[in-house]
Amino acid sequence: MKKLNINLLPGDGIGIEVINESLIVIQKLEELHGGISLNLRHLDWGCEYYLKHGTMMPADGLKILADCDAILLGSIGAPGVPDHVSVHGLLMPIRQGMEQYINMRPIKYLDGLDSPLKNARPDNIDFMVIRENSEGEYCGFGSLRNEGTPEEMAVQESRFSRKGTSRVIRYAFEYAREHNLNNVISATKSNVLHYSMVFWDKIFKEVAASYPDIESRSMYIDALAGMFILNPQKLKVVVSSNLFGDILTDLGSAMLGSIGISPSANINPERKFPSMFEPIHGSAPDIAGKGIANPLGALWSMVMMLQHLNLPDMADILLKSITSVVADRKVRTPDMGGKNSTREVVQEICKRLDDTNR
Ligand code: IPM
Ligand code: MG
Repeated sequence: MKKLNINLLPGDGIGIEVINESLIVIQKLEELHGGISLNLRHLDWGCEYYLKHGTMMPADGLKILADCDAILLGSIGAPGVPDHVSVHGLLMPIRQGMEQYINMRPIKYLDGLDSPLKNARPDNIDFMVIRENSEGEYCGFGSLRNEGTPEEMAVQESRFSRKGTSRVIRYAFEYAREHNLNNVISATKSNVLHYSMVFWDKIFKEVAASYPDIESRSMYIDALAGMFILNPQKLKVVVSSNLFGDILTDLGSAMLGSIGISPSANINPERKFPSMFEPIHGSAPDIAGKGIANPLGALWSMVMMLQHLNLPDMADILLKSITSVVADRKVRTPDMGGKNSTREVVQEICKRLDDTNR
């Protein structure tokens, strides 16, 4: 029996619900496989922990967390704790401290979704956003000046290092090559951001030169956002800075008809640290505790986790079950126009898992 250790960080709000309900699916996958055991360790860090202890995680949290093969995260953020406190107390330290400098976010339309775009089909919305995940606009540096005076101001820095920029762009080209995709688009804003984004463009050109077989193009992010809506079939691989990728992937997910469905993988490619898998949706305090959160984003993230752990068969049957539940349009949570609970969707996924195995 092969054993893998997974650290579970349900976090806050609907994160707790979608991770807890997903455990039923993990159990089912283990049962069907027969040779794998996923050892789950629950960590109760998050906003409730913060209100008790004054920190989002213990002082040696990263060390505790690092001791595993992968991390599954729900979502972070709750009323009563300012979002920047929870984010900089837990999410950023993990992504940055564990050198998870690649954020993979597939935007993939499935039959059965209700896209707000009238021509959406599985063959014309299917691309990968590869987001820089360790620096850029999220580097965390800045200052407040002249506080309390009429000259008060806030300065927020962006940091783009040659190392950080070139590795994510190279990763995007390698991803394209590996998946036979012939086009990489870089999101830029170098017409205005004449330090950071002119630098980003320079590195993009340098890296692109070693991939003559792959088409490359820099696009201003505003025009690119328009292209997401008008010509998504032209997108194969998009590479972006941290903030640009954050915004573009909510847009991409909304194009599918629900933000509740999209997954995300924070990857440390060297495997020096565990990678972390999380749905792209937030903690949604407005529906937290009602049992109606969409579990598909968390389950699809689990698919990415299984792929990362070299369990492609498990990943495949889970993705197939997700796809078939969506295509049937019967069992779905309210964000997708349905009436079902998180639990009912998870149970339906398990039923499909049994069927695919038969
Ligand atoms: C995401 C989220 C986070 C981000 C927030 C919660 C800090 O929006 O994962 O997309 O901006 O990265
Ligand atoms: Mg986001």
